[in-house]
Amino acid sequence: MCGIVGYVGNPSVQPEHDALEVVLEGLRRLEYRGYDSAGVAVYADGQIAARKKAGKVAALEAEIERSPLPASQLGIGHTRWATHGAPSDVNSHPHVVAGGKLAVVHNGIIENFVELRTELQAKGYTFISETDTEVAATLLADTLEGEAAGNLSKAMQMTCQRLEGAFTILAISVDAPDRIVAARLNSPLVIGVGEGEMFLGSDVSGFIDYTKQAVEMDNGQIVTITAEGYDIVTFDGEPAQGKEFTIEWDAAAAKKDGFNSFMEKEIHDQPAAIRDTLMGRFDENGKLTLDELHIDESILRSVDKIIVIACGTAAYAGQVARYAIEHWCRIPTEVELAHEFRYRDPIVNEKTLVVALSQSGETMDTLMAVRHAREQGAKVIAICNTYGSSIPREADACLYTHAGPEISVASTKAFLAQITATYLLGLYLAQLRGNMFADEIHSVIAELQKIPEKVQDVIDNKAQVEQLSRDMVDAKSVLFLGRHVGFPVALEGALKLKEIAYLHAEGFAAGELKHGPIALIEEGQPVFVIVPSPRGRDSLHAKVVSNIQEIRARGAITIVIAEEGDDAVEQFANHVIRIPQSPTLMQPLLATVPLQIFACGVATEKGYDVDQPRNLAKSVTVE
Ligand code: M6R
Repeated sequence: MCGIVGYVGNPSVQPEHDALEVVLEGLRRLEYRGYDSAGVAVYADGQIAARKKAGKVAALEAEIERSPLPASQLGIGHTRWATHGAPSDVNSHPHVVAGGKLAVVHNGIIENFVELRTELQAKGYTFISETDTEVAATLLADTLEGEAAGNLSKAMQMTCQRLEGAFTILAISVDAPDRIVAARLNSPLVIGVGEGEMFLGSDVSGFIDYTKQAVEMDNGQIVTITAEGYDIVTFDGEPAQGKEFTIEWDAAAAKKDGFNSFMEKEIHDQPAAIRDTLMGRFDENGKLTLDELHIDESILRSVDKIIVIACGTAAYAGQVARYAIEHWCRIPTEVELAHEFRYRDPIVNEKTLVVALSQSGETMDTLMAVRHAREQGAKVIAICNTYGSSIPREADACLYTHAGPEISVASTKAFLAQITATYLLGLYLAQLRGNMFADEIHSVIAELQKIPEKVQDVIDNKAQVEQLSRDMVDAKSVLFLGRHVGFPVALEGALKLKEIAYLHAEGFAAGELKHGPIALIEEGQPVFVIVPSPRGRDSLHAKVVSNIQEIRARGAITIVIAEEGDDAVEQFANHVIRIPQSPTLMQPLLATVPLQIFACGVATEKGYDVDQPRNLAKSVTVE
């Protein structure tokens, strides 16, 4: 899970664009994918010049300032999340081999690298890093000088046939100074098409400042880009076609826009993310028209089980969705972590609908689970935020969330957009299968349409939550309780705090409290409680209010998230955070927001890098 960028330009068409600047800009935008080290290599005056540095792109920029690189029209760059080898300077990419004649950057894992290294060592090669990438680069160089007779694309084909695992590799060579050759297998790579210039990126944000025209590539393909265009072949050398598309993301959407962090900005983007995800998906009567779901309606009608697969925050969105889908469609619905699903021999057949949730569309665990489900005969619908990414490409259909680029490692707007999209899917299935009357669907849609404004209200009241985060900055542990749809919200609140504030946090189902977790409560323990609507079903509200009393009696500091007008909570709460009234199933879209603001506030207060928390990367593209 690294970020990769490539650029080649024609100076007479694009005299303003220097490879180093273009590549560095791409790396800054892709840094969310990994930030253990960064590096660039450019070609100029018959030579490859490289700089690389452990740490973030800023450290690389400082290194380049200290030791400048020449002007150039051809360059590659890399920002790394370490897998093989520590995040040191020497393990950073690019790896320059063949006496400085070839430079390579790589994302992914080459599983058979030990065997290949031994083979190359036997031929007399030595290695200076601990990385699998240096092995791949050396194999490429060996093949280029040997059997491929100086043909870089051919050498890449032959090398890829020897590599096992998942990888994207970009290579430049002094013997082919007008081109970058890149290979892709189970790891992302997108081509950007400019005028007199071409780009490569792990995703479109790698070149979004320069062009809106892009091309998807399939697995097992190799592309050669020159300033004039691109040419794709398979690993066997057969000509292949890419799929051209126009990038809908706005370059400005991938900027901080005056906020302190991308996370803060993305929290503020949430009303728009929900609005845009709803847009164009129903008519004025509330009839859903999900044209992109081109799966035979008779198949969707015969579905007898739904399995939602995802990881992390996306899995919590799936847990929220389960309550709605089962309620609306009366189809048994399971939610499973993709990596658990994949390896437990799940019962899946052609009547199973698998819904794969992923912001990035590149999470390897989810991708593998999608493949597994399809092999068993299931239909797979992806719900994804990143156009052209692997999961939608491999699914039978995709319902895109329109949250715009999510840069911060901690997912916020994608979560709310995923819930929105799964709700649309649930309503669509209910419409198709006749589980709900048209006016019932219409009224749910009308409630969904009110949510962006309500989310805005919650954001507008953030000062109270920000004050709480300052007050609680020294807490050693924070607990979160919720019931029904409030339970996944509690899990999500805890995850946010763990990942960006490095603070111990746990989410529990409130009903589970007396079965164990209540033993954790002692004087001063902060506990967030998500209170269901008092107008909601059964006696859920009363039960959660009892839970608040139980923990308060044992010394907890209770921070209660409750609807406006819910007075019953006042006497038992140390703090009440108000959210607008809404039906129970809509509540996660509101109750999550203060928890995001709280985590962002605590991390900021502690002085941590909110957007790039330690040890993490935005998309986990290795298993
Ligand atoms: O791109 P995906 O939605 O597939 O990513 C899944 C998880 O890795 C992701 O949600 C992760 O848990 C976030 N860092 C949470 O904030």
